[in-house]
Amino acid sequence: MSNYKEMVIVVDGLVKQFSTSEYTTVAAVNGVSFSLPREKMIAIKGPSGCGKTTLLNLLGALDKPTAGNIVVDGIKVSELYGVNESEYRLRKVGFVFQYYYLIPSLTALENVMLPMDLRGMKRKGQEAGARRLLERVGLDASHQDRRPTRLSGGEQQRVAIARALANAPAIILADEPTGNLDSKTGKRIIELLYSLTQQEGRTVIVATHDADIAARADIVLEMKDAKLISQTDAN
Ligand SMILES: Nc1ncnc2c1ncn2[C@@H]1O[C@H](COP(=O)(O)OP(=O)(O)O)[C@@H](O)[C@H]1O
Ligand SMILES: [Mg+2]
Repeated sequence: MSNYKEMVIVVDGLVKQFSTSEYTTVAAVNGVSFSLPREKMIAIKGPSGCGKTTLLNLLGALDKPTAGNIVVDGIKVSELYGVNESEYRLRKVGFVFQYYYLIPSLTALENVMLPMDLRGMKRKGQEAGARRLLERVGLDASHQDRRPTRLSGGEQQRVAIARALANAPAIILADEPTGNLDSKTGKRIIELLYSLTQQEGRTVIVATHDADIAARADIVLEMKDAKLISQTDAN
């Protein structure tokens, strides 16, 4: 493996347990270690329940590990609290989910402007930036002022990707991003995510149970029963 400095993400001995009752716990992630370079697409592959979502949530600081460390660009994510933790979520990572989670009362444009607003960007800059991002993900001007209910699933996912890019994060975390789409649309979304790697300098991590989607990635992390069972590098 290349040296530590070149790695964007270093995960060491990661454990996440959930309590299922007063006396019992389940380990959703159980002693996982890996390191990942920047500007690649990485797939986390494995059957339902193997711990993919839990791992992504830990990487995105949506959840705290029970044990182990996550270091992203030298930041110890597992030890972030309060404002540092929210800054990390707002600026360093962008999230894409299976069900898009767009805000239904806002237009596509406004959904993309929202994270810019949270960051304190001026309104004019927000709109110009959001329109540029929507163009970039393939949503033309005639669709940008529509609410999510007037967009197809694939279009909604494009908006969600534009929103994830709003604050220029280094890392995009996508949890089953094609899980609600037909296979042709899903392929296009994966190509879009892939185009963000070398072309735009993002590191894209996609959790999927779909082997075809995982095959498109540069690196595949395979999980089973909360453990990492292999790491495969495509090149
Ligand atoms: N909040 C939670 N409380 C209890 N168990 C959980 C929780 N989240 C996940 N789990 C359990 O952890 C395991 C891994 O879940 P998850 O990370 O969602 O897997 P995947 O995304 O691969 O389907 C499963 O057994 C799941 O039931
Ligand atoms: Mg999942």
